[in-house]
Amino acid sequence: MSGIGERYQQETKYSPDVLHGRKRQRHRRAEPFKEYEEPLAVIPLPEPDFSGGADLWQAMKHRRSRRAYSQETALPADVLATLLWATQGISAGKGEFLFRTSPSAGALYPVETYLSVRAVETLQPGLYHFRPQHFDLEFLKKGDRSRELTAAALAQNMVQQAHVTFIWSAIVARSTWKYEDRAYRYIYLDAGHIAQNLYLAGEALGLGVCAIGALFDDEINRLLDLDGTEETIIYMAAVGLRER
Ligand SMILES: Cc1cc2nc3c(=O)[nH]c(=O)nc-3n(C[C@H](O)[C@H](O)[C@H](O)COP(=O)(O)O)c2cc1C
Repeated sequence: MSGIGERYQQETKYSPDVLHGRKRQRHRRAEPFKEYEEPLAVIPLPEPDFSGGADLWQAMKHRRSRRAYSQETALPADVLATLLWATQGISAGKGEFLFRTSPSAGALYPVETYLSVRAVETLQPGLYHFRPQHFDLEFLKKGDRSRELTAAALAQNMVQQAHVTFIWSAIVARSTWKYEDRAYRYIYLDAGHIAQNLYLAGEALGLGVCAIGALFDDEINRLLDLDGTEETIIYMAAVGLRER
């Protein structure tokens, strides 16, 4: 018997027969933006800083997964704002669609961004939720969570050292509304585009970035109060200032 991965790949294939025979289920469309009713605070982000004049080809050439970070200083808030813009910033508006720096299947943007902040100038350590439509952060939980997050990342020490860890979840219904089970493929692809933008922006800014797929899903879901089904963690990335 084939495993679930192989069955998923087979059963979510498009073919002319499948596409023509498909009856679109009419689910209610999920909200395109998540907002918390009572965050501890809403913190506007500074303008992204594009003044460094990054060279895309150099960033591609030198990008690496970097897992050791300097412990000397905090990450400037405008650098964090630039990374958030690079990953999920709204870069154009058209009708009901607000297009972003990273592509998304059907422009449905199922991926949400949370931050575990350990050492960022002007931000208290804690957990935050990014709102791309307002370009701000909702402060969710006070206190440095890097120890818990490290444990939830299979004890990968880079999380403990990172100035900030990006945590990406997906609100699955935003995509299943249109793509049904095939949506999971697109959710993971979307997350990959987002992470690559973080890698390239991080490289251009002289930071260290490392993607993290090895994680205990439910521990991180619990940390963020996600139910793990309608919204679930899919990917993370540690970010820090490079060691000199
Ligand atoms: C989906 C994905 C998951 C990854 N998960 C981890 C991880 O949990 N821990 C880690 O140290 N590196 C992780 N990486 C980084 C890879 O190990 C790294 O990209 C690979 O070794 C190639 O090296 P480079 O990124 O420096 O080119 C991940 C990369 C991807 C794309």
